[in-house]
Amino acid sequence: MKVPILLILTHSIFSFDVVFADVTAVIDASSNYGIWEGWGTSLAWWAAAFGDRDDLADIVFSLGQVSFNGLTLPGLGMNIVRYNAGAASSNSIDGESMVKSPKINPSRLIDGYWIDWQSTDPTSSSWRWSVDAKQRSMMQKAKSRGANLFELFSNSPMWWMLNNHNPSGSDNGSSDNLQTWNRQQFAVYLANIAQYSKSNWGVTFNSVEAFNEPSADWWNGKSGTQEGCHFSVATQQDVLPYLRSELNNRGLSSTLIAASDENSYDSAISTWKGLNSTAKATVGQINVHGYQYGKGDRAGLYQQAVASSKKLWNSEYGESDATGSQLISNVILDFRWLHPTAWVYWQIIDGGGWGLITGDNTAVSLNGPTQKYFVLAQLTRHIRQGMRILDSGCDYAVAAYDAAAKKLVIVAVNWGDAQYLNFDLSQFSTPGQSGATIQRWSTQIGSGERYATYKDTVVSGSKFWSHFEKNQVQTFEVPGVVV
Ligand SMILES: *[C@@H]1O[C@H](CO)[C@@H](O)[C@H](O)[C@H]1NC(C)=O
Ligand SMILES: *[C@@H]1O[C@H](CO)[C@@H](O)[C@H](O)[C@H]1NC(C)=O
Repeated sequence: MKVPILLILTHSIFSFDVVFADVTAVIDASSNYGIWEGWGTSLAWWAAAFGDRDDLADIVFSLGQVSFNGLTLPGLGMNIVRYNAGAASSNSIDGESMVKSPKINPSRLIDGYWIDWQSTDPTSSSWRWSVDAKQRSMMQKAKSRGANLFELFSNSPMWWMLNNHNPSGSDNGSSDNLQTWNRQQFAVYLANIAQYSKSNWGVTFNSVEAFNEPSADWWNGKSGTQEGCHFSVATQQDVLPYLRSELNNRGLSSTLIAASDENSYDSAISTWKGLNSTAKATVGQINVHGYQYGKGDRAGLYQQAVASSKKLWNSEYGESDATGSQLISNVILDFRWLHPTAWVYWQIIDGGGWGLITGDNTAVSLNGPTQKYFVLAQLTRHIRQGMRILDSGCDYAVAAYDAAAKKLVIVAVNWGDAQYLNFDLSQFSTPGQSGATIQRWSTQIGSGERYATYKDTVVSGSKFWSHFEKNQVQTFEVPGVVV
């Protein structure tokens, strides 16, 4: 809506007592969509390429100001790490060896630890614990910078467990590739890694996820560019109890099983509904990927999670839009309708707009951060683990509350023409103190401001407002708020 010029003048002159704006978000102080567990990233390809880099670890896992490529970047402060159990090895076993897709991208094959079927004993020579050192190095660097939630995930079982020995998928993509007699072995593989990690790497995985986009039909060994494996719902249902008992047998009964990392909200609903009660009981956390973007039944999946008393994570998100526009739009939709308690970006470093930092994991070359990086920083640096997620009542803002610090955080974007956005805190018992300074941070989608900060905004009664350019993202920290 276009604001008449007279009103703009009135507002700028009497901004402390004239409250108006084109739009007002009323933050629901009584709402509670769960306690935020954090923001994270999957390691896999980027960490296998760059896992020895302290500056990248600082950028991703600390809240410091980090020098990088002639710039100073605000650290993202992520606290969730998804570590990828690889499926590849170069040895042969009794004359059999791994089959590679002709289109495979070599940086997307991750070395796995169980190199032959001779022994399930992790101390035997069938297990090679020295591989994948860089991905593990980044996991350690993350931990030493404060990361405190770790998930072990698999894109494919070890190649020798597969019908065609190809960790990119079955020959037509739509059939199961895990050999029926290796279903329990696959569970042993993941459980042994979890146990070994706890004893030897000092990382206790909070959760283990065996299936990456299992219903997809694009995990094709003839054309795949990465590791992947189709699992029917019936096969998942068979593997899950094995995974639960193999974890329990190793003293890991408090390690949750996460399932099933489907590509879309809709396929996650369908897979969850398809699992029987035995399989569902093994699962502690429903994971879903955010690749349906603006579409899909987010609210329906949330209902499934609530009805089953399971945690819900958006465990993988990515796209090629380097501007940050898609990212902020989809995060807000997730907060509004899916209500995950964690949100995980796929690859920190990648090309084609997919990375937060542009780079090439095969050539091991790096360029600068994308604008998307700063848009994500507006969220990750302010909505922190332990905060309660509130209902913003709108599709252009998210809100979180830090009870200990009495701090309300709002992240908002203005999709319309330049205008004031109003935030109504009248539902809080204390909506901050009138006149108190609200620090704000600003990033312009596409290009322009990158996480600039200002202290020019104040609480006015039970409201505050701020001028937004079109496509401007702003974060506000309102002090002294009591729900
Ligand atoms: C894929 O291959 C499997 C095993 O060869 C076969 O049973 C299935 O029908 C095939 N599916 C398609 C869509 O071709
Ligand atoms: C669920 O399926 C598994 C195997 O797929 C089976 O062992 C189990 O008994 C089933 N549970 C129920 C309640 O039907």
